[in-house]
Amino acid sequence: MAFDVAKVLHERHGENFALHSQVLNPQLARVLKTLGFDRYYVRGEGCYLYDDKGDRYLDFLAGFGVYALGRSHPAIKKALHDAIDLDLPNMVQLDCALLPGVLAEQLVARAHEGIRRVYFCNSGTEAMEGAIKFARRATGRPRIVFCSHAFHGLTTGSLSLNGGKEFKEGFGPLLPGSTEVPFGDLDALEAELRKGDVAAFVAEPIQGKGVNVAPQSYWTAAQELCRRHRTLLVADEVQTGMGRTGKFFAHEHYGIQPDIVTISKALSGGYVPVGAVLCTEKVYMSVFSSIERAMVHSTTFGRNQLAMVAGLATLDAFDDLGIVERARETGEAFEAALAPLVERYEMLHAVRGKGLIIGLVFGKPESRSLRMRWNALEAVRTALFSQMVVVPLFHRHRILTQVAADNMNVIKLLPPLIAGQEEVDYFVAALDDVLRDAHRGSGLLMEFGATMAKSALRRHGSKPVMAPA
Ligand SMILES: Cc1ncc(COP(=O)(O)O)c(C=O)c1O
Repeated sequence: MAFDVAKVLHERHGENFALHSQVLNPQLARVLKTLGFDRYYVRGEGCYLYDDKGDRYLDFLAGFGVYALGRSHPAIKKALHDAIDLDLPNMVQLDCALLPGVLAEQLVARAHEGIRRVYFCNSGTEAMEGAIKFARRATGRPRIVFCSHAFHGLTTGSLSLNGGKEFKEGFGPLLPGSTEVPFGDLDALEAELRKGDVAAFVAEPIQGKGVNVAPQSYWTAAQELCRRHRTLLVADEVQTGMGRTGKFFAHEHYGIQPDIVTISKALSGGYVPVGAVLCTEKVYMSVFSSIERAMVHSTTFGRNQLAMVAGLATLDAFDDLGIVERARETGEAFEAALAPLVERYEMLHAVRGKGLIIGLVFGKPESRSLRMRWNALEAVRTALFSQMVVVPLFHRHRILTQVAADNMNVIKLLPPLIAGQEEVDYFVAALDDVLRDAHRGSGLLMEFGATMAKSALRRHGSKPVMAPA
């Protein structure tokens, strides 16, 4: 009898956490149980997830930015069903298929005028690996400079460019000559570039870890420095690209023209893993520089037909629904609705980001009683307050959010780009409720916090739970 996925889901219902504990990553299962995030989700649609009890969750992680169009978008589903039914000749390998060309053409058309060519791969980190290799080949130089707090993926090359020690521990030695500079520090950047051996300066236009934003002047000067020292500028737009910030590429906000741009997450339509390296003619042709080098950088599943169809259907839906503009408008609606909360609650210091990558920045309150409680919490673990907000947002209000980075009191919101006023209002009311409780000192939040903290510390020794991407 043919494989029946519905039957498997029915027969094995509820075994998900046990299976993860037995044959997958048991630590992930432990973390999620500790936080009380152990649900059995059965369906996803638009901005929402549904569990087996029929409860609805507002998904402000969006698969770490994958679900720009929300989950189960009908146009993407139809395109993929159609593609499968057409029995397309997939991955012939010794072939130049049509759809990768059409998708590459569309991506090039949306990029700045210097971007002429595309290399397709399967994920964000793989796109970054490509960017590293392309930059080295194009410049003949070995070193890569990256920023503090950077996140570019977790394969060995990308990991070498990670601004957090916790991810690197035990995996070295990593790429020699990869050097961290503080995000936003032009002097430190120039000091490295002046050495003349830097192939690329790699940066996220808005950093995912912490939702850190640098001023326009930084980007203008960084590009100028790169050009002066003949170092390539690589914009990692894996998370910020494809409308997330209210422009198709986040670097457009700063008027810069990177030599290499990487994208991934949203291009998948939420269905088929894909990554892409967009670059200038000169960079690309330095890699594929002769007939002998036609396959010098490639991957089996790159350019696969289903990924290309998902990408094309995604771009089509973007245009149809005016997604980029919508993300900008909903971002502005968030900004307006969150501003009164910054005024009202001492612990909410600021809201930062652009469009629909939003950081809620928490910090020490001014009044004495609140400060004492804050200090007690932070003494248990740095940045515990944010976790304490994430947990009741989930339990009381069924909203999925994340702490933006380890040791940083920032909550990150990555709503689907189809989110609208309804989601803004629901989230802001929920946050208001949780922060009101924290301020009132009813003890509920702090009690909850203490329980979580104790259980987390018991399970993980003194190590904090690692914040996801
Ligand atoms: C900016 C950035 N670059 C690269 C990556 C790595 O992408 P992937 O997880 O698909 O390897 C991520 C993932 O979150 C990211 O946010």
